[in-house]
Amino acid sequence: MKRELPIFPYFRSMQKLFLVYSYLKYLLKSTNTHGVHSPFVFGLLNDVVYNKTDYYVYKEIEALRTQLLEDTNTVSCIDLGAGSLNSRKQTRTVKHHALYSAKPAKYAQLLFRLVNHFQPHHILELGTSLGITTAYISKANSKSNITTIEGCPEIAAIATQNFHLLEINNINQITGNFDEVLPALLNKTEKLDFVFFDGNHRKKATLNYFEQYLTKSTETTIFVFDDIYWSREMKQAWDEIKTNKQVTVTIDLFYLGIVFFRKEQVKQHFVIRF
Ligand SMILES: C[S@@+](CC[C@H](N)C(=O)[O-])C[C@H]1O[C@@H](n2cnc3c(N)ncnc32)[C@H](O)[C@@H]1O
Repeated sequence: MKRELPIFPYFRSMQKLFLVYSYLKYLLKSTNTHGVHSPFVFGLLNDVVYNKTDYYVYKEIEALRTQLLEDTNTVSCIDLGAGSLNSRKQTRTVKHHALYSAKPAKYAQLLFRLVNHFQPHHILELGTSLGITTAYISKANSKSNITTIEGCPEIAAIATQNFHLLEINNINQITGNFDEVLPALLNKTEKLDFVFFDGNHRKKATLNYFEQYLTKSTETTIFVFDDIYWSREMKQAWDEIKTNKQVTVTIDLFYLGIVFFRKEQVKQHFVIRF
Protein backbone atom coordinates (compact mmCIF):
# COMPACT_ATOMS: atom_id res chain seq x y z
CA MET A 1 0.00 0.00 0.00
CA LYS A 2 1.26 3.50 -0.86
CA ARG A 3 2.35 5.46 2.24
CA GLU A 4 1.56 9.13 2.49
CA LEU A 5 4.38 11.62 2.94
CA PRO A 6 4.14 13.46 6.32
CA ILE A 7 3.49 16.73 4.44
CA PHE A 8 0.40 15.26 2.81
CA PRO A 9 -2.27 15.65 5.53
CA TYR A 10 -1.10 19.27 6.02
CA PHE A 11 -1.32 19.96 2.30
CA ARG A 12 -4.81 18.42 2.14
CA SER A 13 -6.07 20.54 5.07
CA MET A 14 -4.69 23.70 3.42
CA GLN A 15 -6.51 22.70 0.25
CA LYS A 16 -9.77 22.18 2.14
CA LEU A 17 -9.35 25.58 3.84
CA PHE A 18 -8.82 27.19 0.45
CA LEU A 19 -12.04 25.58 -0.77
CA VAL A 20 -14.04 26.86 2.22
CA TYR A 21 -12.55 30.37 1.90
CA SER A 22 -13.31 30.44 -1.84
CA TYR A 23 -16.86 29.23 -1.22
CA LEU A 24 -17.53 32.04 1.27
CA LYS A 25 -16.21 34.56 -1.28
CA TYR A 26 -18.42 32.97 -3.95
CA LEU A 27 -21.49 33.30 -1.70
CA LEU A 28 -20.79 37.02 -1.31
CA LYS A 29 -20.14 37.64 -5.00
CA SER A 30 -22.71 35.45 -6.71
CA THR A 31 -26.02 36.70 -8.06
CA ASN A 32 -29.11 35.12 -9.60
CA THR A 33 -30.99 36.36 -12.69
CA HIS A 34 -31.65 39.75 -11.05
CA GLY A 35 -28.11 40.97 -11.48
CA VAL A 36 -27.81 39.82 -15.11
CA HIS A 37 -28.33 42.21 -18.03
CA SER A 38 -27.05 40.03 -20.88
CA PRO A 39 -30.12 38.58 -22.71
CA PHE A 40 -28.13 35.45 -23.63
CA VAL A 41 -27.10 34.73 -20.05
CA PHE A 42 -30.50 35.73 -18.65
CA GLY A 43 -32.19 33.25 -21.00
CA LEU A 44 -29.63 30.56 -20.17
CA LEU A 45 -30.23 30.95 -16.44
CA ASN A 46 -34.00 30.78 -16.79
CA ASP A 47 -34.18 28.02 -19.38
CA VAL A 48 -31.27 25.84 -18.36
CA VAL A 49 -29.50 26.61 -15.08
CA TYR A 50 -32.60 27.17 -12.93
CA ASN A 51 -34.89 24.88 -14.94
CA LYS A 52 -36.71 22.64 -12.43
CA THR A 53 -38.22 20.13 -14.91
CA ASP A 54 -38.00 16.60 -13.52
CA TYR A 55 -36.82 14.73 -16.63
CA TYR A 56 -37.48 10.99 -16.69
CA VAL A 57 -33.78 10.19 -17.24
CA TYR A 58 -32.93 11.73 -13.87
CA LYS A 59 -34.74 8.85 -12.10
CA GLU A 60 -33.20 6.22 -14.33
CA ILE A 61 -29.62 7.40 -13.83
CA GLU A 62 -30.03 8.19 -10.14
CA ALA A 63 -31.36 4.65 -9.56
CA LEU A 64 -28.10 3.38 -11.01
CA ARG A 65 -26.10 5.80 -8.83
CA THR A 66 -27.93 4.43 -5.76
CA GLN A 67 -26.85 0.89 -6.70
CA LEU A 68 -23.25 2.03 -7.19
CA LEU A 69 -23.33 3.78 -3.82
CA GLU A 70 -24.04 0.40 -2.23
CA ASP A 71 -21.39 -1.50 -4.16
CA THR A 72 -18.57 -2.56 -1.83
CA ASN A 73 -16.52 -4.32 -4.52
CA THR A 74 -13.07 -2.84 -4.87
CA VAL A 75 -11.24 -1.48 -7.90
CA SER A 76 -7.51 -0.86 -8.15
CA CYS A 77 -6.26 2.26 -9.81
CA ILE A 78 -3.29 4.49 -10.13
CA ASP A 79 -4.68 8.00 -10.00
CA LEU A 80 -3.27 9.79 -13.03
CA GLY A 81 -4.73 13.10 -11.96
CA ALA A 82 -4.37 15.36 -8.94
CA GLY A 83 -6.03 12.74 -6.70
CA SER A 84 -8.88 12.96 -4.28
CA LEU A 85 -9.20 15.21 -1.25
CA ASN A 86 -10.52 12.23 0.67
CA SER A 87 -8.23 9.38 -0.13
CA ARG A 88 -4.91 8.63 -1.84
CA LYS A 89 -5.42 4.87 -1.71
CA GLN A 90 -5.01 2.94 -4.91
CA THR A 91 -7.66 0.37 -4.04
CA ARG A 92 -11.06 1.83 -3.35
CA THR A 93 -14.62 0.59 -3.34
CA VAL A 94 -16.98 1.32 -6.22
CA LYS A 95 -19.06 3.06 -3.58
CA HIS A 96 -16.16 5.45 -2.90
CA HIS A 97 -15.90 6.36 -6.59
CA ALA A 98 -19.67 6.88 -6.80
CA LEU A 99 -19.54 9.13 -3.76
CA TYR A 100 -16.41 11.17 -4.43
CA SER A 101 -15.64 11.05 -8.16
CA ALA A 102 -19.00 11.21 -9.90
CA LYS A 103 -20.54 14.64 -10.20
CA PRO A 104 -23.48 14.98 -7.78
CA ALA A 105 -26.96 14.83 -9.32
CA LYS A 106 -27.46 18.61 -9.20
CA TYR A 107 -24.44 19.26 -11.46
CA ALA A 108 -24.74 16.18 -13.67
CA GLN A 109 -28.36 17.18 -14.33
CA LEU A 110 -27.23 20.69 -15.22
CA LEU A 111 -24.87 19.16 -17.79
CA PHE A 112 -27.86 17.16 -19.09
CA ARG A 113 -29.86 20.38 -19.48
CA LEU A 114 -26.98 22.20 -21.19
CA VAL A 115 -26.62 19.42 -23.76
CA ASN A 116 -30.39 19.11 -24.10
CA HIS A 117 -30.65 22.84 -24.75
CA PHE A 118 -27.74 23.39 -27.14
CA GLN A 119 -27.78 19.92 -28.78
CA PRO A 120 -24.02 19.73 -29.40
CA HIS A 121 -23.01 16.94 -31.74
CA HIS A 122 -19.31 16.25 -31.11
CA ILE A 123 -18.79 15.84 -27.39
CA LEU A 124 -15.70 15.02 -25.37
CA GLU A 125 -15.44 14.17 -21.68
CA LEU A 126 -12.06 13.98 -19.95
CA GLY A 127 -12.59 11.67 -16.96
CA THR A 128 -15.34 9.04 -17.35
CA SER A 129 -15.12 7.48 -13.90
CA LEU A 130 -18.23 5.25 -13.53
CA GLY A 131 -19.93 6.98 -16.46
CA ILE A 132 -22.69 8.73 -14.53
CA THR A 133 -22.24 12.16 -16.10
CA THR A 134 -21.47 10.58 -19.48
CA ALA A 135 -24.85 8.85 -19.23
CA TYR A 136 -26.62 12.14 -18.52
CA ILE A 137 -24.89 13.80 -21.49
CA SER A 138 -25.72 10.88 -23.76
CA LYS A 139 -29.40 10.82 -22.78
CA ALA A 140 -29.62 14.57 -23.46
CA ASN A 141 -28.77 14.07 -27.12
CA SER A 142 -28.83 10.47 -28.29
CA LYS A 143 -27.76 11.61 -31.77
CA SER A 144 -24.53 13.07 -30.46
CA ASN A 145 -21.19 11.44 -30.81
CA ILE A 146 -19.53 11.26 -27.39
CA THR A 147 -15.91 10.37 -26.68
CA THR A 148 -15.03 9.81 -23.05
CA ILE A 149 -11.58 9.05 -21.68
CA GLU A 150 -10.66 7.24 -18.47
CA GLY A 151 -7.19 6.31 -17.28
CA CYS A 152 -8.17 3.50 -14.91
CA PRO A 153 -9.10 0.30 -16.83
CA GLU A 154 -11.05 -1.25 -13.93
CA ILE A 155 -13.23 1.84 -13.55
CA ALA A 156 -13.67 2.15 -17.31
CA ALA A 157 -14.94 -1.47 -17.36
CA ILE A 158 -17.64 -0.60 -14.81
CA ALA A 159 -18.61 2.43 -16.90
CA THR A 160 -19.01 0.11 -19.94
CA GLN A 161 -21.40 -2.10 -17.93
CA ASN A 162 -23.33 0.98 -16.82
CA PHE A 163 -23.73 2.15 -20.45
CA HIS A 164 -25.14 -1.28 -21.34
CA LEU A 165 -27.53 -1.21 -18.40
CA LEU A 166 -28.80 2.19 -19.48
CA GLU A 167 -28.98 1.09 -23.14
CA ILE A 168 -26.63 3.81 -24.26
CA ASN A 169 -24.81 3.31 -27.52
CA ASN A 170 -23.49 6.66 -28.71
CA ILE A 171 -20.34 6.55 -26.59
CA ASN A 172 -16.82 5.92 -27.78
CA GLN A 173 -14.87 4.92 -24.67
CA ILE A 174 -11.11 5.36 -24.63
CA THR A 175 -9.01 3.92 -21.84
CA GLY A 176 -5.66 5.61 -21.32
CA ASN A 177 -3.79 8.56 -19.90
CA PHE A 178 -5.10 11.84 -21.36
CA ASP A 179 -1.53 12.94 -22.02
CA GLU A 180 -0.98 9.91 -24.22
CA VAL A 181 -4.33 9.62 -25.99
CA LEU A 182 -5.23 13.27 -26.55
CA PRO A 183 -2.71 14.12 -29.32
CA ALA A 184 -3.91 11.25 -31.57
CA LEU A 185 -7.54 12.02 -30.79
CA LEU A 186 -6.95 15.67 -31.59
CA ASN A 187 -5.49 14.74 -34.97
CA LYS A 188 -8.61 12.92 -36.03
CA THR A 189 -11.06 15.42 -34.52
CA GLU A 190 -12.37 18.05 -36.88
CA LYS A 191 -14.35 20.07 -34.40
CA LEU A 192 -15.74 19.87 -30.91
CA ASP A 193 -19.09 21.29 -29.81
CA PHE A 194 -18.96 20.47 -26.12
CA VAL A 195 -16.09 19.48 -23.84
CA PHE A 196 -16.37 18.50 -20.17
CA PHE A 197 -12.96 18.73 -18.48
CA ASP A 198 -13.28 16.52 -15.40
CA GLY A 199 -9.96 14.82 -14.74
CA ASN A 200 -6.44 15.75 -13.75
CA HIS A 201 -7.23 18.85 -11.68
CA ARG A 202 -3.81 20.45 -12.06
CA LYS A 203 -3.13 23.90 -13.48
CA LYS A 204 -0.58 22.91 -16.11
CA ALA A 205 -2.58 19.91 -17.33
CA THR A 206 -5.89 21.83 -17.38
CA LEU A 207 -4.40 24.69 -19.40
CA ASN A 208 -2.67 22.25 -21.70
CA TYR A 209 -5.95 20.37 -22.46
CA PHE A 210 -7.77 23.69 -22.83
CA GLU A 211 -5.25 24.99 -25.37
CA GLN A 212 -5.24 21.73 -27.31
CA TYR A 213 -9.02 21.68 -27.63
CA LEU A 214 -9.31 25.37 -28.29
CA THR A 215 -7.91 24.63 -31.75
CA LYS A 216 -11.02 22.50 -32.42
CA SER A 217 -13.56 24.91 -31.02
CA THR A 218 -15.92 27.16 -32.93
CA GLU A 219 -18.05 30.12 -31.96
CA THR A 220 -20.76 27.80 -30.69
CA THR A 221 -18.54 25.41 -28.73
CA ILE A 222 -19.08 25.13 -24.99
CA PHE A 223 -16.36 24.10 -22.53
CA VAL A 224 -17.27 23.07 -19.00
CA PHE A 225 -14.57 22.85 -16.34
CA ASP A 226 -15.08 20.90 -13.16
CA ASP A 227 -13.87 21.96 -9.73
CA ILE A 228 -12.50 25.38 -10.67
CA TYR A 229 -11.84 26.14 -6.97
CA TRP A 230 -10.53 22.70 -6.03
CA SER A 231 -7.09 24.19 -5.33
CA ARG A 232 -5.18 27.44 -5.79
CA GLU A 233 -3.76 25.93 -8.98
CA MET A 234 -7.21 25.21 -10.40
CA LYS A 235 -8.35 28.73 -9.56
CA GLN A 236 -5.29 30.12 -11.39
CA ALA A 237 -6.09 27.91 -14.39
CA TRP A 238 -9.69 29.19 -14.37
CA ASP A 239 -8.49 32.82 -14.20
CA GLU A 240 -6.16 32.24 -17.16
CA ILE A 241 -8.91 30.60 -19.17
CA LYS A 242 -11.16 33.63 -18.60
CA THR A 243 -8.51 35.98 -19.98
CA ASN A 244 -8.02 33.98 -23.18
CA LYS A 245 -8.81 36.14 -26.23
CA GLN A 246 -11.21 33.63 -27.75
CA VAL A 247 -13.26 33.30 -24.57
CA THR A 248 -16.18 35.71 -24.32
CA VAL A 249 -18.76 34.75 -21.69
CA THR A 250 -17.91 32.66 -18.63
CA ILE A 251 -20.27 31.47 -15.92
CA ASP A 252 -18.83 30.56 -12.54
CA LEU A 253 -21.11 28.23 -10.57
CA PHE A 254 -18.34 27.45 -8.06
CA TYR A 255 -18.18 23.69 -8.66
CA LEU A 256 -18.40 24.17 -12.44
CA GLY A 257 -17.16 26.86 -14.80
CA ILE A 258 -18.86 27.26 -18.19
CA VAL A 259 -17.07 28.91 -21.10
CA PHE A 260 -18.62 30.33 -24.28
CA PHE A 261 -16.87 31.61 -27.40
CA ARG A 262 -19.84 33.47 -28.94
CA LYS A 263 -18.37 36.35 -30.92
CA GLU A 264 -21.47 38.56 -30.67
CA GLN A 265 -21.11 38.66 -26.87
CA VAL A 266 -19.16 41.31 -25.00
CA LYS A 267 -16.48 39.68 -22.86
CA GLN A 268 -18.09 39.26 -19.45
CA HIS A 269 -17.65 36.95 -16.47
CA PHE A 270 -20.67 36.02 -14.37
CA VAL A 271 -20.61 34.54 -10.88
CA ILE A 272 -23.96 32.85 -10.50
CA ARG A 273 -25.57 31.40 -7.36
CA PHE A 274 -26.43 27.74 -7.96
C1 LIG B 1 -13.74 13.32 -11.12
S1 LIG B 1 -13.61 11.80 -11.97
C2 LIG B 1 -14.71 11.95 -13.33
C3 LIG B 1 -16.15 11.92 -12.92
C4 LIG B 1 -17.15 11.80 -14.06
N1 LIG B 1 -16.95 12.81 -15.08
C5 LIG B 1 -18.55 11.93 -13.51
O1 LIG B 1 -18.98 13.07 -13.24
O2 LIG B 1 -19.23 10.91 -13.31
C6 LIG B 1 -12.06 11.99 -12.78
C7 LIG B 1 -11.58 10.73 -13.48
O3 LIG B 1 -10.51 11.12 -14.33
C8 LIG B 1 -9.55 10.09 -14.35
N2 LIG B 1 -8.25 10.74 -14.65
C9 LIG B 1 -7.61 11.70 -13.94
N3 LIG B 1 -6.47 12.06 -14.54
C10 LIG B 1 -6.38 11.32 -15.68
C11 LIG B 1 -5.44 11.26 -16.73
N4 LIG B 1 -4.34 12.01 -16.73
N5 LIG B 1 -5.68 10.40 -17.74
C12 LIG B 1 -6.81 9.63 -17.74
N6 LIG B 1 -7.74 9.64 -16.77
C13 LIG B 1 -7.53 10.48 -15.75
C14 LIG B 1 -9.59 9.49 -12.96
O4 LIG B 1 -9.18 8.12 -13.01
C15 LIG B 1 -11.05 9.65 -12.55
O5 LIG B 1 -11.79 8.48 -12.75
